[in-house]
Amino acid sequence: MKTDIVLGLQWGDEGKGKIVDVLTPHYDIVARFQGGPNAGHSLEFDDMKFVLHTVPSGIFHSSIKNIIGNGVVIDPVILQEELDQLRKLGIDPADRILISKKAHLILPTHRIIDAASEASKGKTKIGSTLKGIGPTYMDKTGRNGLRVGDILADNFIERYEALKNKHIIFLRQFDYEYNIEEYEATWLKGIEDLRKFQFIDSEYVINQYLDDNKRILAEGAQGSLLDIDFGTYPYVTSSNTICAGACIGLGLAPTRIGEVYGVYKAYCTRVGSGPFPTELNDNEGEELRRIGREFGATTRRPRRTGWLDLVALKYTVTISGVTQLIMTKSDVFDTFDTIKVCVAYSIKGKETTMFPFELNDDVIPVYKEFKGWKKEISKLRKYDELPAELKDYIKFIEDYIGVPLKIISVSPNRDETIIR
Ligand code: GDP
Ligand code: IMO
Ligand code: MG
Repeated sequence: MKTDIVLGLQWGDEGKGKIVDVLTPHYDIVARFQGGPNAGHSLEFDDMKFVLHTVPSGIFHSSIKNIIGNGVVIDPVILQEELDQLRKLGIDPADRILISKKAHLILPTHRIIDAASEASKGKTKIGSTLKGIGPTYMDKTGRNGLRVGDILADNFIERYEALKNKHIIFLRQFDYEYNIEEYEATWLKGIEDLRKFQFIDSEYVINQYLDDNKRILAEGAQGSLLDIDFGTYPYVTSSNTICAGACIGLGLAPTRIGEVYGVYKAYCTRVGSGPFPTELNDNEGEELRRIGREFGATTRRPRRTGWLDLVALKYTVTISGVTQLIMTKSDVFDTFDTIKVCVAYSIKGKETTMFPFELNDDVIPVYKEFKGWKKEISKLRKYDELPAELKDYIKFIEDYIGVPLKIISVSPNRDETIIR
């Protein structure tokens, strides 16, 4: 068997959580491979709404195993809060979740370093979720980090104290006041709770599952334009969010990748700083935020909004070898008279469809306009029932990108989804 992957193709929040939840019944295992609690994946069903940060989105299906892979970074405090919510629903998370021994731990001081570093950047700040993601991956690549498997070592607390003290010395360069005592106490309790879980060598477990013909869905976090290598650097996250990230973050050979589902919103959003060529700072942008309820699932920050950018989309589809497109939130356009999509960039008077090294103020989007369908689409379940204007819009995107659109999500709800 091969592993299928769900990826976000924009700046995150494309609706990956909902899509993973919709696809889960076709799989035996759902596995997160990168990122951490900077993610906020929303799932809605049976009049309930959940936001998952670290726990994979297959958790609500009783027969599914959920793996937190080696590429993920874990904050035991945030994980603990998620687990408590699940327990209140009668779910025993220890029964459904397996955690890689090689996943790195976010320490309380990683969060402080994140906050101090952002505060020191002033206007050039990244707009981080301040969950300690960057500093934790820095300690991973700097070969200082602590991993889940280390919790089992007799000298774990000693090693924790040593790393914490390194951080305290590092923090002296910032004029930043902090107090970690309360968070640290909850963190240490979270570490104790983690011991109830099965720590696994996920690379062995995953490959064995595939050998046993089990079906695995890998769940990406963030979006391809936030990828540390290919995103809008330095306004990115600190992990590889693209398809290859699943190989690294789970111990999968590239030959074991099957379908690559690329999820995109019918428009673009971005939360945090950084370039956004098609951003709308006008009434239409405000309407997208209002109708699309574009407020961060993790930080509650208003999301920046703008038109769909096909130059960027084609770039991210190419890098990940996306085999099937999934579009979410086109229902947000139901009342719009016209809809625009960016089909090229004009840079100093020259048109290009290449995503440039830097998206600076010289990059001016070139738009194609589409007629709105002016019809509510959330109750439609079949592709054939969609308004002709929406079908034209979809056909144009498929032709431009060169990949078929297989799923159209028409509301936050699990059941309101069109599969072609
Ligand atoms: P993720 O991080 O990619 O999982 O996405 P988020 O959960 O952060 O943000 C997506 C938001 O859009 C959530 O509030 C979802 O409930 C919602 N959503 C997902 N699909 C659709 C859709 O097709 N239509 C509408 N209107 N909302 C959707
Ligand atoms: P999901 O999985 C949207 C953004 C932050 C910031 C930048 C770096 O829900 O799609 P970090 O905390 O990683 O240091 O922040 O990345 N960011 C996200 N934006 N969705 C996410 O996750 C994000 N995770 C991080 O806003 O601009
Ligand atoms: Mg999100």
